[in-house]
Amino acid sequence: MNDQLIVFDTTLRDGEQSPGASMTRDEKVRIARNLERLRVDVIEAGFPIASPGDFEAVRAVAQEIKDSTVCALARAIVRDIDRAAEAIKPARSGRIHTFIATSPIHMREKLRMEPAQVLEDAVKAVKYARQFTDDVEFSPEDAGRSETDFLCRVLEAVITAGARTVNIPDTVGYNLPGQFGDLIRTLRERVPNSDKAVFSVHCHNDLGLAVANSLSAVLNGARQVECTINGLGERAGNAALEEVVMAVRTRRDLFSCDTRIDTTQIVPASRLVSNITGFAVQPNKAIVGANAFAHESGIHQDGVIKKRETYEIMRAEDVGWVANRMVLGKHSGRNAFRTRLKELGIGFKTDEEFNSAFERFKDLADKKHEIFDEDIQALVTEEGIEGVDEQYRLTSLKVCSETGVRPHAAVTLSVQGAQKSAGAEGGGPVDASFRAIEAVVGSEAQLLLYSVNNITSGTDSQGEVTVRLERAGRIVNGHGADTDIVIASAKAYLNALNKLVLPAERAHPQAGTPI
Ligand code: KIV
Ligand code: ZN
Repeated sequence: MNDQLIVFDTTLRDGEQSPGASMTRDEKVRIARNLERLRVDVIEAGFPIASPGDFEAVRAVAQEIKDSTVCALARAIVRDIDRAAEAIKPARSGRIHTFIATSPIHMREKLRMEPAQVLEDAVKAVKYARQFTDDVEFSPEDAGRSETDFLCRVLEAVITAGARTVNIPDTVGYNLPGQFGDLIRTLRERVPNSDKAVFSVHCHNDLGLAVANSLSAVLNGARQVECTINGLGERAGNAALEEVVMAVRTRRDLFSCDTRIDTTQIVPASRLVSNITGFAVQPNKAIVGANAFAHESGIHQDGVIKKRETYEIMRAEDVGWVANRMVLGKHSGRNAFRTRLKELGIGFKTDEEFNSAFERFKDLADKKHEIFDEDIQALVTEEGIEGVDEQYRLTSLKVCSETGVRPHAAVTLSVQGAQKSAGAEGGGPVDASFRAIEAVVGSEAQLLLYSVNNITSGTDSQGEVTVRLERAGRIVNGHGADTDIVIASAKAYLNALNKLVLPAERAHPQAGTPI
């Protein structure tokens, strides 16, 4: 019998720490529902002490999710743990994940604490967290650069204090696969009570080694991997869930463990995360990139046609690649729309929200005869920011684009209910539209990124636009979708502006400054 490899997904916590990837409560709930369908074992939903919004989001996920454990992050500080415990209270199965840094550089420069004090706080935090749940995880942050002797002492003490999972983070992505695997083996051998806890790993991708390091750890006895969909995460990201899961499944001959993951849900989960965060997936990304199963060269195509295993080690359909299937059309009614939303794990809190989505679906079906799952996801993502009256809404946009004439845009926005109009010229129709919007809004935000992707194939496909804006050090992503890419661009720009005006009081878990 193979061991179970526990999949701990931190898309909603570490993933959210990517600049501009912050998610609203409802977006987190939508992703969490997908993770549950993927059969992820543990969903780390956020860092509740960071802000009231973060607390609410973790709580909403805890209320919604039944089949996965819902986890909240807390520094080794009483008020963090209290907040985390409160947030996961509604969960059927809840975990508190507490951490403190153990590397010399982090203890000295960030925490300004002596090792003995760090060890004492780690033990206190675990004991305190155990009052709220039996399921407590402890991480020695920056374990990858910590001294092994000290790590062994900390791990032994926190396991005695009641940690059921000990997670070894390579916080800055510094380790190499052989070295990291050795570290896990050494810790399991040298910590006297190591058999009383699950060993977990959490690898960052700064050297492009997060997945390789995680797999090396699994080969050396780690039985939980912390990862994110599409490898999203702080800086270069975390280990990509889809790559870890498929490596273990494909190389059953080498791994004496397997996950519970329903791999056919991988591509839908990847698309949803990309759609919500605005972080596009590169075409050559393993497993979920558009080219991951495409064969360009004649020799490869010939081989695949004769016998697919000549060039394919996995089957596209096993990871959820299916040709775009038309799911709804112009004549689909409310029931068909509601049923498909349910199948996609999308729910609406009020009839009003459902009715507005249905109206937008009908508008889209008028322009585009075949509606795919991806169109429905985009349509829902485009819905405003929940619980917030959006400051800016697009009332109308007219763009003139003609050979030999400088493009001109005329825009009317609803600004807190009042209609305001302006016009502007630009280098192209999108540039002119953004300038016209700015003439109304005057945000002084900097445009960092503009990208367009087609959601499905064909020239009648919706264009999905991501806009990244920065103002006073704060970065937000906005997205919009429409069969007209200029309108999609204006929607994305306004979506980002609406996020910029929301309060931004949120603290970073690893900043080392008090909240
Ligand atoms: O990278 C890291 O060390 C973390 C910890 C909070 C587990 O994200
Ligand atoms: Zn991390």
